[in-house]
Amino acid sequence: MEKTKVIIDCDPGIDDSLAIMLALKSKELDVIGITIVCGNSPVEMGFENAKKILKQMNRLDVPVFIGEDRPLCRAYVNALDTHGEDGLGESFLPKVDGYEQEMSAVDFLTLTLKRKKVSVIALGPMTNLARLIQKDLDAFCNIDKLVSMGGTFKSHGNCSPVAEYNYWCDPDAAALVYKTLHENSMRIHMIGLDVTRKIVLTPTILEYICRLNPKMGDFIKKITKFYFDFHWQWEHIIGCVINDPLAVAYFIDQSICSGFDSFVEIETQGISLGQSVVDSMNFYRKEPNATVLTEVDTFRFFQMFLSRLLDLEPEKLDILKDIL
Ligand code: BDR
Ligand code: CA
Repeated sequence: MEKTKVIIDCDPGIDDSLAIMLALKSKELDVIGITIVCGNSPVEMGFENAKKILKQMNRLDVPVFIGEDRPLCRAYVNALDTHGEDGLGESFLPKVDGYEQEMSAVDFLTLTLKRKKVSVIALGPMTNLARLIQKDLDAFCNIDKLVSMGGTFKSHGNCSPVAEYNYWCDPDAAALVYKTLHENSMRIHMIGLDVTRKIVLTPTILEYICRLNPKMGDFIKKITKFYFDFHWQWEHIIGCVINDPLAVAYFIDQSICSGFDSFVEIETQGISLGQSVVDSMNFYRKEPNATVLTEVDTFRFFQMFLSRLLDLEPEKLDILKDIL
C-alpha cells in the first residue's frame, strides 16, 4: 500500500500527543515531519514534548521543526492552564537530548511543498501556515489535503461563547488561511468543536485500555490525569475531550465524520474574535472554502484509536460498544 505523506503541524499539548501517537501507529500514513507552533505550550516546550512522544513511540527518526513563537498580530496566550505546566499534563517526562532541528518549521514546509504535494494535519493555531502563505504562496497551494482541528459551527466555543482556542489564539492566521483557500479554490476540512466535543476519553475507556495494554494505559493515564481534573473543574465532565486525534482519524478515513461544504470566514476583531463564521445558508454566494464536519461516529473513532494504539484487531475490542 502506498502511504500518504503528511506533515503534522501542532502545539503539543496532551491531545496533540495522542494524535501524533495515532498517526505513527497508522500504516496508511508516512509522517515526514512534525512542525511545532506556539499554542497550548510555548514553541520550545512543544518541541521538547514532541520529542518525548517520539521517544515513547520509538520513532525519533521523525524530524521535528520549531515554528513561530507568537501569533501574527496579537499577544500570545498559551493554554498551560489546560495542559499543565510542562504542556504534557505535568507528567514531567525526562527531556530527550541530542536531537536538534536543522531548519525552521516554515522553511521545512516551504522546501517540502515546493518539491511535491504533501498533506497537512493542523492541530494548533495556524501561524506556521499563515507564514508559509506570506513566504511562498505556490508552496502553500501545493498542499494536497488540509485538515484542521479548529473552529466551531453550532457548538459553543471553549475560549469565548463563540471561539475555539486554535482560531482564537491566532485569529489573523486562521483568517488568512481561509481567505487564501477561497482565493485559490482550495478546501480545508474543519474538524471543529461540533464533532470533537463528542470524543470524550472516560475513566472507563482508560481502564479498558489499561486492561488490554498496561504499558500504554499507564502512559496515557500519566499524560491525561491533569486534563481529567481540568475538565471536571471547568466543564463538570468526568473524562476529557480529546480533540486532536479525531483530525487524524478523519484524515485516514473521512467516513468517520460527515458535514457540508460552505464558505467560512474567521473574525479578527471585537467580541467574536476568533469565531469561525460558517455561511451555511449561502448568504454571501461565495464558493465554499471548507468542508465543515458536524457529525461523528464516536464508536468508529474509538475503535480505530484503541485498536491502533494497542496493536489489536478492531474486532477484539469486544466491550467497546457497551462502555461508550
Ligand atoms: C484545541 O486547542 C487545544 O487545547 C487542543 O490541543 C486542541 O487542538 C481545542 O480547542
Ligand atoms: Ca492542539
